[in-house]
Parts: sequence; C-alpha cells; structure tokens
Amino acid sequence: MSKLLLRGRVLTFVDEPKSIDDQSAYNYFEDGAVLVENGKVVDVGEYAALISVADPQTEVVDHRPHLILPGLIDTHLHFPQTQAIASYGAQLLEWLNTYIFVEEQKFSSTAHADFIAERFMDELLRNGTTTAAAYCSIHLESVDAYFTAAEKRNMLMIGGKVMMDRNAPDALRDTPQSGYDDTKALIAKWHGRGRAHYAISPRFAITSTPEQMDMSRALVREHPECYVQTHLSENKDEIAFATSLYPSAKDYTDIYASYGLLGSKTLLGHCIFLSDREISALAETKSVAVFCPTSNLFLGSGLFDHGRFRDLGARTSVATDVGGGTSFSMLETMSEAYKVLHVQGQRLSPFASYYMMTLGNARALGLEDRIGSLHAGADADITVLDSRAKPAMELRMRTATTLAEELFILQTMGDDRSAAEVYVAGKPMKSGLDKPAATSTRTRSMPELQTA
Ligand code: GUN
Ligand code: ZN
Repeated sequence: MSKLLLRGRVLTFVDEPKSIDDQSAYNYFEDGAVLVENGKVVDVGEYAALISVADPQTEVVDHRPHLILPGLIDTHLHFPQTQAIASYGAQLLEWLNTYIFVEEQKFSSTAHADFIAERFMDELLRNGTTTAAAYCSIHLESVDAYFTAAEKRNMLMIGGKVMMDRNAPDALRDTPQSGYDDTKALIAKWHGRGRAHYAISPRFAITSTPEQMDMSRALVREHPECYVQTHLSENKDEIAFATSLYPSAKDYTDIYASYGLLGSKTLLGHCIFLSDREISALAETKSVAVFCPTSNLFLGSGLFDHGRFRDLGARTSVATDVGGGTSFSMLETMSEAYKVLHVQGQRLSPFASYYMMTLGNARALGLEDRIGSLHAGADADITVLDSRAKPAMELRMRTATTLAEELFILQTMGDDRSAAEVYVAGKPMKSGLDKPAATSTRTRSMPELQTA
C-alpha cells in the first residue's frame, strides 16, 4: 500500500492539560504532516522534515490551512435512536416510554436495522468521529447490523445488545437466560473480529431483574476482555425507582457494585446525582463516568459536576448520547459541555476540550495506544477540521490570534460542516459519503404541549 503524507496544522495531545496554557500537554506543528502507511501512523512532525526523507511514491494531500487531529471519539450513544433525536417534551422515564421503546421495536426488522446502521456510521464519520461505544437494541440482529456496517468502513467500534427483562414493552424484553445466551453468541461472533469490541450492556437497573443482573455478572466474569456499559444516576425519578427495586443496595451505584459490574472497562452514562461515596466507589474500581451534556440539557436531567470527579480521583469521558443527545457532533457536544460547567462556576479550557474528545476518551476506553493521538504505530484514524466552515465562522476567525481562540471558536460554532475530511485506518471517508437520501417516516404524536 502506498504511503500518504497529510499536510496541515497538526495538533495531538500527549497528556491532559493541567492549565489553560499547558503547552507540555500537546504537540502542535503549524506546517506539520502525518505520514501514513498500511492504515497506521508512521511519523508525525514538521512537513519539511518529513517530505525531505519521503519516498518518491508518497502521495501528499495538502489540508492547509485546516487542523489535523486524531479521529474524535464518542463514548456513549444509542444506534437505534438515530431517528428519535429531538423527541419533544418529556424527561427520562416518560421519554423512554413514549418515544424510545417505540422506536427500538422497529429493530426487529433486519432491513431497518441495516438501513439505520449504515446511516449511523456515515453520520459519525460526517462529524469526524471515528470510534464510538454504542448500545444496540434488544435484538441480536441489530448488533450484526451495527458491526457489519462498522466492518465495511473498517471503523474501531464498541457495541452490544441491550439486555432488558422488565419495565419495558413485551417486544423489547429478553429473559435472563436469552440475554446471556445472545450476548455469549455475539461476543463469540464479534469481539476481536477486525476492529470490533463488545460491550456487555444491561440497559440500567430499572430494566433488569436481579436474575438478569446475576447473568450480567457471569458475563463480566467470563469475558473480562469486554466492556460493560450501563446508565447511572441520570434523573431523580429514575434514581428513586431504581433504588426501590434494589432495597438492600446502599445507593444506586451500589446496585451495580453488588453485581460485580464496576471496573476499569465499565462505562457509566450520566452520573449526575452521585454522592461523594458513590464517586469514590467509581474511583476505587476505576470505572468511567460518562458526561453527556447535550442529553442532560435536552432531557432536563441535570448538570454533570466534572470538578467533583476530578477532585475525588474518578475517571471521566464525554459523549453525545444520541438520541437523548441532540447532535452527533463532538464539537457541539463540547460546546454544551463548556456551558454546563460554566453555569456551575467551572471553566473548561479549549485545550482540555480537545484533549477530552481525543486522548481523554481513548484513555477512558483503554485504547490510547491505538487511537486518540497521532504517534508512530497508532491507527491512522484522523480528522481534518475547518475553522472557517461557515460564513459566520470565517468572519469570527478574522479576529482570532491564538490557537486556543481558534479551537474555542471551532467548538462553539462548528458542527459536521467543520469536519473537512476524516480518515479511517488511513482511508479518506468523508468525501465519499452519500448525500442524505430523502426518506419518509411516519410521525408520532407528541405529549400534550405544556406551557408551564
Ligand atoms: N437510561 C436508560 N436507557 C436510556 C437511554 O436510552 N437514554 C438515556 N439518556 N438514558 C437511559
Ligand atoms: Zn444512554
């Protein structure tokens, strides 16, 4: 395979920025380049240095004046909710019952699952996201659709079948045994095949009986190589319901702890209302609290207290949580993250934001050797970002004088249009994406409009 030299303004992190101007946390090459061969990064540095030793056959792609970053990473979203984004007016439990559990039933159709999986992967790439951890539906076939679509694009994706055996419509319920059997079969089929990673996925304590939690514990013990993903402490009604179902647990976190579901490969969506004790339990087990800002605002859930997790030594990541989340864009997600923290008196610096979308999320997934930063030997998953993708951005950028300012403008005003190109294992993907096809879907009625 021929070599590819991507020229542009290369930005990649080596550590979490400790302050707003911590230059030791990143490498930045104003006229930089990334040398790619056989789907891997071979070298990163100044363009002049790399071109001077390049083979004559090396193809140079000039992305100047754009920024070249590692592919963005999304650590929590729901592939079957792609067509349920922007469902009006309800908080978590009503929203699940009114919209989501209706939507997810459509995935009993493999044709529908295949169609949405294709569009879902394209939408990630359109937004510059090259890796994501997603929930599939209860249907085994939805996982096949998901990983098949990822494999076609050679994307490093994490996913799993949700397990639910109560508090969901009949058509969306498995049993402790069938959830276990299907998950075993899917792990055998997909985990470690190409770039696929499996996530054992009990949806949350409300939709799993103690018997299903026991089976989840067995799966985690038998497959320590797999991720675990679930939801924790997102909404006050949810917390009251979950803890009422497990009266012997100390608190919501203790439900998962008592079934052996916490650990360094566990991703816990939301974690908004945790006590210090619960955050410390996450820290001790190295579990990851996943911050989903657009979702937390959209569903009226609450504000994630990032500073408290840092102070108590717990790991965090950031995610879109589509379809509670309102955008596939990690830029838009970080724009909302900034606001969620700002309103709590916390300041998220631009460099910290870009760290979180790349190396920070890769570390949360334990994949920092492969993705999230541009270094020799890394997978060549690369995103090219255009800070002037819209007229208003171009106008604003005329007054920007520093890289930090540019990154903040890009995050605050950017969206899918700012991802100028995206490479998956060295292959350009965005330029080849189809324009969204017009499709008709039936409309559902909204809960009654409320003015109060
Ligand atoms: N809790 C349980 N399931 C879900 C879901 O699909 N989305 C969100 N935001 N929270 C959940
Ligand atoms: Zn979720």
